[in-house]
Amino acid sequence: MPEIKRIGVLTGGGDAPGLNAVIRAVVKAASNSGIECVGLEDSFDGLIEPGRSRVLTPRDVTGILRLGGTILGTTNRGNPFEYPIATSDGVHDYSDRCVEMFHKMGLGALIVIGGDGTLAIAHQFFDRGIPIVGVPKTIDNDIMGTTNCFGFDTAVDFATDAIDRLHVTAEAHHRIMVVEVMGRYAGWIALYAGVAGGADAILIPEIPFDIGVVCERLMARDRWGAKFSIVVVAEGAFPKGGEISLLQAAHGAHVERLGGIGAQVCAALADQTGKETRSVVLGHLQRGGPPTSFDRALATRFGGKAVELVKRGEFGTMVAFEPPAIVARRLDEVVGKTKTVPMDYDLLLTAKALGVTFGD
Ligand code: F6P
Repeated sequence: MPEIKRIGVLTGGGDAPGLNAVIRAVVKAASNSGIECVGLEDSFDGLIEPGRSRVLTPRDVTGILRLGGTILGTTNRGNPFEYPIATSDGVHDYSDRCVEMFHKMGLGALIVIGGDGTLAIAHQFFDRGIPIVGVPKTIDNDIMGTTNCFGFDTAVDFATDAIDRLHVTAEAHHRIMVVEVMGRYAGWIALYAGVAGGADAILIPEIPFDIGVVCERLMARDRWGAKFSIVVVAEGAFPKGGEISLLQAAHGAHVERLGGIGAQVCAALADQTGKETRSVVLGHLQRGGPPTSFDRALATRFGGKAVELVKRGEFGTMVAFEPPAIVARRLDEVVGKTKTVPMDYDLLLTAKALGVTFGD
């Protein structure tokens, strides 16, 4: 294998706290091994035109460890293999252009930091001959093959804090508070934040819910004197026999946008319990802010491991957390799959044992 002297790094998909920590770790670890890093802007868009990339030195990444967002920019609009785009010199096939630019830029490998969609694209580029190492990112924690993605812990921490705040006002007003959290088709954020925040009901996509069961649980609390309740609803949760609530259907390069189920659950609970209810959507607040120390450490380990895999020539891989180790997984074994909450998951069973209802 020829020695690699220059690599590219990009961030794709929705942002997650810890992206900058990975970029910093990649740049520092690579630089200390005599490898130059080129930061590509706005995901694979940075491989289209030369002006959308820049060399990153350790000086450029100093002080970004604690910052949310990504200094490289990102996008979650569609797949470059499916959508031709117009560049300054005409309409090109996005993927062909990316491969061509990768070589023109003198890159020996590409570190792709992204979620399921971005990693699937990375895998396609690997099949086209680009040496790729993936780094799993998402607040949803739904990537196969890794116990944790960075960003998840920060999102859960934020949602838990929000639930704590809602608890006091719910109790003061004897209300039911419904909190809608993100997570797409997986209930990880709802489960962890719900348990950590002491929710009475947690509704997740893995368990279609019966609103009558939820009402019964909340009214039972009322009867024994707890006149308030907290209900955490994952954006992808849906009633038995019903469908996921969408804010916007998929169109063109845009994936479908989930949302609205919190308000629906809130209205149904008000109707069926006769209690005052209010709902809150935490939305993108869950993706902002500084990463937790756990996410900073995980992101740093991922970045360091990614550079190690580049140096060893282990391409077509993704770094992963298999406690206590950071390991390499084959991309083809993890892409195209969604890691959902298993029905025998300890935290789920423990929550049920404590009396939390999941509406089933
Ligand atoms: O995948 C991360 C995520 O935040 C999901 O939880 C959410 O459904 C989606 O991205 C929102 O995407 P957008 O930023 O495009 O609204």
